[in-house]
Amino acid sequence: MCGIVGGVTNQNITPLLLEGLKQLEYRGYDSSGLLVLSNNNSFLRARSVGKVHNLEKNLNTRKKRIKGNIGIAHTRWATHGEPSNRNAHPHISNNTVGVVHNGIIENYLELKESQSKQGYKFTSDTDTEVIAHAIEFNMQSSNTFLESVQKAINSFEGAYGLGIISSKHPDTIIAARKGSPLVIGVGKYGNYIASDQIALLPITRKFIFLEEGDIAELKLEKITIYNQNGNKVNRPIKTSKIKEGQVDLGVHKHFMQKEIFEQPQAIRDTLESRITKESVVVSAFGYKASEVFKNVKQVQIIACGTSFNAGLVAKYWLEDIAKIPCNVEIASEYRYRNPIILDRTLFVTISQSGETADTLQALKTAKEINNKIDTLCICNSAESSITRESEFTFLTHAGPEIGVASTKAFTTQLVALALLTCSIGVSKKNINKQNEKSIVDGLKRLPGLINETLLQESQIKKLAVRFKDKNSALFLGRGTMHAIAMEGALKLKEISYIHAEAYPAGELKHGPIALIDESMPVIAIAPNDELLSKLKSNLQEVKTRGSQMIVFEDKESKVKSMKAMKIISITSNLGRITAPIIFTIPLQLLSYHVALIKNTDVDKPRNLAKSVTVE
Ligand code: G6P
Repeated sequence: MCGIVGGVTNQNITPLLLEGLKQLEYRGYDSSGLLVLSNNNSFLRARSVGKVHNLEKNLNTRKKRIKGNIGIAHTRWATHGEPSNRNAHPHISNNTVGVVHNGIIENYLELKESQSKQGYKFTSDTDTEVIAHAIEFNMQSSNTFLESVQKAINSFEGAYGLGIISSKHPDTIIAARKGSPLVIGVGKYGNYIASDQIALLPITRKFIFLEEGDIAELKLEKITIYNQNGNKVNRPIKTSKIKEGQVDLGVHKHFMQKEIFEQPQAIRDTLESRITKESVVVSAFGYKASEVFKNVKQVQIIACGTSFNAGLVAKYWLEDIAKIPCNVEIASEYRYRNPIILDRTLFVTISQSGETADTLQALKTAKEINNKIDTLCICNSAESSITRESEFTFLTHAGPEIGVASTKAFTTQLVALALLTCSIGVSKKNINKQNEKSIVDGLKRLPGLINETLLQESQIKKLAVRFKDKNSALFLGRGTMHAIAMEGALKLKEISYIHAEAYPAGELKHGPIALIDESMPVIAIAPNDELLSKLKSNLQEVKTRGSQMIVFEDKESKVKSMKAMKIISITSNLGRITAPIIFTIPLQLLSYHVALIKNTDVDKPRNLAKSVTVE
């Protein structure tokens, strides 16, 4: 979640570190810092709360300039310890070892206790400081810098991407990764590390992607990499085609297709540092989130468009799993209707852009009505009006979404909302350890499950032909799948211009059934859940009206095949959290392929805007 950049070069490293941090700002931050080894081998450190710009100002106003050829830098998003100078990275041990860290050391309290007994004095509340002390401690019994890092790492449980320098080894940076990304940049004037290649694009295009458990030793003219067993390995140097500040299509025809296929990675990025082996990191929502979640009495969700549909799914989760009352409302309605807002309400806005005018205004209005509420924004844009207006921010790390029809932003919003559900449930003691672990396990399975589902693209493409001459479609689902049906219908409307409606399947006989005939395809979502038998009866009702049907089911759902019905078995063993996220994927693919057949402007559908900043 945090950003790392570092390097060893024959030039002054400080401007490169600053520039790298600026490139990483999109991931969110509450403080930043850098550590450089001066030419007489002493550590020079600067840290500032707030934007990287504040760190830059801090550097410019110092009497003694921070200059040197080797250094590490970091943007922090507070999880362990409040956002403050003392908690900002890099952390130093005994003026000898400096560390920047991305991830969570789960056993840091244990390590802290034993290190305190060894005489180490702690100057921060972070989990990271134990890393610096562990390396410093192991230096005393090691022959090399590398060996001390290898020994220290063996004592860590959790996830890390690390950049380490030492005043005793002024020519070396050590990088290590497990569970958090880290890339090496091979440059003309030196070698570099970063948590995201974007940070290094101004310097190089040549990258080595470290694998799980790798440790790398970087010197000015040499990079040596060891795998998790300590054996020397060769990792290929790849040339990046990413252009600075530009997102390209790669092998895809449209951004929408690209973004659909990026979902496994977007979800991995959104989960990074937000879960541990078996639990959620509640403080990922904000340093004081746990206290707020414990006391909160109800949740009010506000959003527009696709983000609203994500909120609808969350209502089921929050009430069913976290046992907290939840309301969801369209922002443009909420802002004008003088709502009653009770004390101890957690007011959650969901927005990809963070700029949607109605959502922003609904948030402002809510704060005017009751200034005691806590506000949380789930957003894909670190620097946006809605994040600025909110007390807590949880960033979805979907990356830039260019297609107007939202895809990866939606599924990452669902992941964020699943984490919120779990965090509130755990804070209120409504979710026990076992349930928490099973939610976390389910979230970890998501990227693999999505990849499996994406393999169905060719089958779904064939189905799209059925919509060629259709003017209307009906999407059916029950429970969370009603919200997913709404998202499926919205996607079809947005990019293929076919009128589409979503209905809770149980409501069919109260109106929409009158519309059903051969010209109206019905798309049903049939997960293997407690409502399956009821949904199957609804499918019978539809069938007798002669409609063409498409059913997306779980392998275990075993929907009985009927005439003019196409059943696509998506995957198996889905749970309450995983099912809505996975069933979204075939609906996205279906809309995309229908739009191709209709020959519409997929990425820029008529009359629609990516970000609606006016009423
Ligand atoms: C527009 C976009 C939708 C988006 C909605 C809300 O209508 O076309 O894709 O869902 O705005 O945007 P937000 O940025 O607040 O999520």
